[in-house]
Amino acid sequence: MHGVGVPVSALHGPSGPPDVRFRVVAQSSRVRLPSGDEVSALTFNGRLPGPELRVRVGDLVEVTLVNRDVPQGVSIHWHGVDVPNAEDGVSGVTQDAVRPGRSYVYRFRVDEPGTYWYHSHQHSADEVERGLYGALVVEPRKAVEGADFVALAHTIGGHNLLGGSDREARRRVAAGTPVRLRLVNSADTLRRFALTGSSFRVVAIDARDKPGGTPLSGRTIAVPAGGRYDLAFRMPAAPVRLAIRDQDDGLVLEPGSGEAAPTAQFGPDFDPATYGASAAAVPRHFDRHFAVDIGRRLGFFEGGVHFGWQWTINGKTFPRMPMYMLRRGETVEFSLSNHSNIAHPMHLHGHHMLVFARDGRRITPWWSDTLEIETGERYDVAVFADNPGVWMFHCHNLPHAAHGLVTHASYEGVTTPFEMGSDSGNEPE
Ligand code: C2O
Ligand code: CU
Repeated sequence: MHGVGVPVSALHGPSGPPDVRFRVVAQSSRVRLPSGDEVSALTFNGRLPGPELRVRVGDLVEVTLVNRDVPQGVSIHWHGVDVPNAEDGVSGVTQDAVRPGRSYVYRFRVDEPGTYWYHSHQHSADEVERGLYGALVVEPRKAVEGADFVALAHTIGGHNLLGGSDREARRRVAAGTPVRLRLVNSADTLRRFALTGSSFRVVAIDARDKPGGTPLSGRTIAVPAGGRYDLAFRMPAAPVRLAIRDQDDGLVLEPGSGEAAPTAQFGPDFDPATYGASAAAVPRHFDRHFAVDIGRRLGFFEGGVHFGWQWTINGKTFPRMPMYMLRRGETVEFSLSNHSNIAHPMHLHGHHMLVFARDGRRITPWWSDTLEIETGERYDVAVFADNPGVWMFHCHNLPHAAHGLVTHASYEGVTTPFEMGSDSGNEPE
């Protein structure tokens, strides 16, 4: 992959017969929610959220995306899957947006079991909110016994959803069953979950195991926009309630005891930095160090039409933000800090980040692809440059990204033939 000008489009997934095939049709739909309210949505296969895609680790997955009638075009980004670059689904970077009547085929293998999700990366601030998203679950090779639920939180047109429901949903689970709850946040801001009625362990974050965690109770699980947390527990003899702070939706698991579900208890936020054991060894040496310092400043934007606050990285506004250049095989340190007035969940495409220090102090390292950076915080992360391409690195509060909080990590020698902007019709954010 070294040398001159490998185009992104050459970095595609494996060929050969797929193990699983999906067909996903993007279309506008009116969806009636369980409360009776109707929303006008953009959907995958007419559903909200899109179909839950379940595959096994190592499967060659083939997904055909068809755009029936979404005028702005669509794409699918496999959030958290470190796919070959041409399969990354970012319009204007790794492909052209798929126009109405057209289709696009994605092919990739997932090497790590876990909880992922997918969404359009064309006009994403608009299209994801309006419904072009769904869960992707990668199961281990050997089937795991027990109950396994995705709890995907979203907000569309002011309606809060957990899965497809804007009301609390109920599921029957026999006492004694091992349960895995996969919390996913596809909304633009942090969601706080409380699990009441059982202690639980946090067993994975962002599709990577969180080893050695002890049982927790009364902890609130704060899931950043775009992030995933997997919880595990054994179903007790009485109901368990999963609730989201300040929302009416939720999930009650009941063993059939006839008892009432416990009232949700929100406690202090769970902190992955002080939980369990180290997920991986922190490198002793880095080939490069990069600073990503998020700030804001007042200025003109959109061609001088608007005056207001603009996001900055290292003092520069879009499109003059720094681009981070990587070389294949390097170990790279990024220092992510936030000197703006609001939290930013930073998402790196194509790689996981080993988070190992906060505010200059060592913490229990964990893997993340979507890291919430609060005002005044700084995180140091290690990235192993093993997946050549041009990779987006942006805030997953998607309106922030649409207002310029976007940069790229780009490998030397990789070029993209795709373009962004109104002439090309590609507008990834
Ligand atoms: Cu889930 Cu670039 O995004
Ligand atoms: Cu942000």
